[in-house]
Amino acid sequence: MSTKVQKSVEVDVPVRTAYNQWTQFEEFPQFMNGVQEVTQLDETTLHWVAEIAGVRREWDAAILEQVPDTKVAWAALAGATNAGAVYFSPLDDGRTQVTLELEYEPEGMVEKAGDALGVVGRQAEADLERFKSFIEGRSGETGGWRGGVNEDLDIGTPSVDAADLSRGDDGKSGISGKAVAAGAVGAAALAAGAVAAKAMSGSADTSAGEGVDVAPATGVDLPPLDVVDVLTLDHQEATELLTQILGTTDLGEARELTDVLITEVVRHAVAEEMYVYPAMRKHLPDGEAAVEHDIAEHKEIEKTMKELEALNPEDPRFTEVVTHLDSVLADHVADEESEQFPQLRASVPREELVEIAGKVETAKKLAPTRPHPSAPNSELFHKAVGPGVGLVDRLRDRLSGRTVA
Ligand SMILES: [Fe+2]
Ligand SMILES: [Fe+2]
Repeated sequence: MSTKVQKSVEVDVPVRTAYNQWTQFEEFPQFMNGVQEVTQLDETTLHWVAEIAGVRREWDAAILEQVPDTKVAWAALAGATNAGAVYFSPLDDGRTQVTLELEYEPEGMVEKAGDALGVVGRQAEADLERFKSFIEGRSGETGGWRGGVNEDLDIGTPSVDAADLSRGDDGKSGISGKAVAAGAVGAAALAAGAVAAKAMSGSADTSAGEGVDVAPATGVDLPPLDVVDVLTLDHQEATELLTQILGTTDLGEARELTDVLITEVVRHAVAEEMYVYPAMRKHLPDGEAAVEHDIAEHKEIEKTMKELEALNPEDPRFTEVVTHLDSVLADHVADEESEQFPQLRASVPREELVEIAGKVETAKKLAPTRPHPSAPNSELFHKAVGPGVGLVDRLRDRLSGRTVA
């Protein structure tokens, strides 16, 4: 199953400037968060290294059609299956609409989990915003290639069918050992990499070019995520949301994204307190102290979110409080990801971490969705999820008026 993303941004520069900058592909990593490296192999072939939903992926892309000041369309030749086009249209002499349309095939459970959370769409949107600040923040483009490629082709937006060559696994969920092992997702990824590497040994990779990760037709299913993977994905989602909230000028959108963020972070915190912190207490050398510290940070996060709930995005304090939340959350994420999560993986058997992952996912579905800085989250959870409480309602409240838990 492929996923389509369409995102637009208005940039306050003439179409020529916006287009020229976009042709400087090798400079993308300077302003696009997800893109780590772009190498122009020749005029129409690019090698990309990016992080998609927290997983490092590589692909070669061919420019199928390029029309100066109008369009660049591409499709992957090898590696991560994706295709799309970016369109430029002048709004007036000094403003341009840039629209990115892309289709991709998430691969493996980690990416599918990210996909379900809409991570790629948000990443694309945030990257377009970064393109905007980059080009608007300087006196002109850093370069430009004015050549055309198949200008009369008029192929519209290529779909993943155009990226057929990249389907080393016939579109099934395969896994590239190297790509995944290099990813940010940790032990499950490493374990998956090991399984895939084993399955790969002896199966020659015929479709891949030098240094390109192509998912081999291994038919190997990814092992289940462990709790550290699940929580790390949550952290990434929260961080992306915060970037978007701070980047948007649309106040309605800021409110909506903030509500999603609050809901997700409360659920995350509840799940951690119920299942992860007890494991930390039990297994970590300084578990008790680490948990106490983390819970205090949770309270600070929740206090800030409570404040944010009541603030109108028009209020000048809104951005201030979002920025504060961004910093406390970043600290907390850094603590967990650099210290406690690795310690958990070092001291808790993997089966147990996978089991906790399942409990965390369930707890997140059932958890209250409003910040309660004054009470321990686990207690609230038990109170809230008494008999007769509509569980489905709890999920639904993310989209409508939220229920007080
Ligand atoms: Fe936490
Ligand atoms: Fe966390």
